[in-house]
Amino acid sequence: MKIQIINGPNLNLLGKREPETYGKESFETYFEKLKQQFPNIQLHYFQSNIEGELINQLHEVGFTFDGIILNAGAYTHTSIAIHDAIAAIKTPVVEVHLSNVYAREEFRHKSLITSKCTGLITGFGMEGYAMAIGHLLNKKL
Ligand code: DQA
Repeated sequence: MKIQIINGPNLNLLGKREPETYGKESFETYFEKLKQQFPNIQLHYFQSNIEGELINQLHEVGFTFDGIILNAGAYTHTSIAIHDAIAAIKTPVVEVHLSNVYAREEFRHKSLITSKCTGLITGFGMEGYAMAIGHLLNKKL
């Protein structure tokens, strides 16, 4: 089973960026733990700060992988192009946010991508990625 994790803008700074909101751990450190937690799943990780690169990656894996876990960062709230890319591909996409976007500024309450995703996990920190894998795994079984 192949799952692609895609993190969007500023998520390369996890661990350093606003730790009170996003935690103290880098994604690279968490990703190692995640691979140990799910040894039978082929987990791939991609991060970019560039909208078009996120879209290219969705296209790249979106017809062959079993699942995509997408934290589109701030593009969640602005990107019709990412909405359209999710609509265009076949692989199910789970939307994940580390913080509870509904407990934050109003501009974060609107997601342009949720309507094209299988579901939304928000506010559980890094654990949200493991929860998304759990869902994709159950779905496949
Ligand atoms: C985020 C929430 C977004 O509103 C924000 O722009 C991010 C991170 C999260 O994981 O909580 O960059 O996607």
